[in-house]
Amino acid sequence: MEDYEPLMTVYTLLKPLFFRLDAERAHGIAIAALRLFPGRPAPSYPTLASRVAGIEFPSPLGLAAGFDKNAEVPDAILGLGFGFAEVGSITPLPQAGNPKPRLFRLAEDAAVINRMGFNNAGAGAAVLRLKARAGKPGVVGINVGANKDAADRIADYAAMARIMAPYATYLAVNVSSPNTPGLRALQDEGALTALLDAVIAARGPQGPPIFLKVAPDLERADIDAIARIAIDKALGALIVANTTISRPALRSAHAGESGGLSGAPLKGLALQRLRDFRQATGGAVPLIGVGGIASAEDAWARIRAGASLVQLYSAMVYEGPGIARRLLAGLAELMRRDGFSAIAEAVGSE
Ligand SMILES: Cc1cc2nc3c(=O)[nH]c(=O)nc-3n(C[C@H](O)[C@H](O)[C@H](O)COP(=O)(O)O)c2cc1C
Repeated sequence: MEDYEPLMTVYTLLKPLFFRLDAERAHGIAIAALRLFPGRPAPSYPTLASRVAGIEFPSPLGLAAGFDKNAEVPDAILGLGFGFAEVGSITPLPQAGNPKPRLFRLAEDAAVINRMGFNNAGAGAAVLRLKARAGKPGVVGINVGANKDAADRIADYAAMARIMAPYATYLAVNVSSPNTPGLRALQDEGALTALLDAVIAARGPQGPPIFLKVAPDLERADIDAIARIAIDKALGALIVANTTISRPALRSAHAGESGGLSGAPLKGLALQRLRDFRQATGGAVPLIGVGGIASAEDAWARIRAGASLVQLYSAMVYEGPGIARRLLAGLAELMRRDGFSAIAEAVGSE
């Protein structure tokens, strides 16, 4: 354990208390703690570094969107050992999101259900923070969404691409949240083409690469269409996947809550979707595997199935902030065990 890391110690001591708090309050405390303990450079593993979409990633493990919705603590996230931080989803205007409670721990299932609904302080507030860290090293992706009551949602995404491009190492276009009614229809072929054309134009010729985040709840025909469009538009990566609206067998009292399910019960579905996208793209578009990853073995399986990078969120709720360092050490060991000296060699090698 990282004995120099006060945050880890504080977490271990306070975890029982933390879990008795309402989940959203606990999340607020986690963000506040990260503002106080900004972390330190994590040990680096040369074998874990790779270049994806023209970006140098120090390691393939990122923190997924939704934890730092307002871009308050990207550098502290990197300080926990994550190779990249994805902030957001951020929308043009501030919005309150759905009524509380809207975030539920399903401890018996190592899962989370959320129906936050893009609660965030809006683009203006995020830009002030991102401006203040401009020039700092570290891969910080900005995940963008549309306001719930936007008259023209595609215009919202284009506006976000234009506003955020100067601050983003990559832009993640999130058309897969289940908590904004109608949003996922933007994954349909015609809408997606129009959306990406608008975003690519708004991002500008020197702008950051565009990543597209998709839902796990897609049919074969959707997957093939999205893969074709991703190749056609030269997207930097596909992020596979967001939370699921499906409900595998769950044991927790909150199993019946509506919203997106994440964590352990999503793992099999997210891995299957990654394989589907690997097949549909023929490896022509880098993939980011996300959903239910909680261990080095999970991350390694996702990479072997075709992910160039991986992300997690729910597992940090249960495992605490030490998860990134533990997972990276484990991943470096698994690579050594299997005889790989670079992540890129292992991608899709299953
Ligand atoms: C509370 C919560 C909020 C989330 N908010 C967002 C979001 O704003 N934008 C987004 O693209 N994904 C969001 N996600 C989805 C995660 O980024 C991730 O795709 C999903 O949780 C699956 O990964 P996991 O099983 O490791 O949590 C959210 C997830 C959770 C649990």
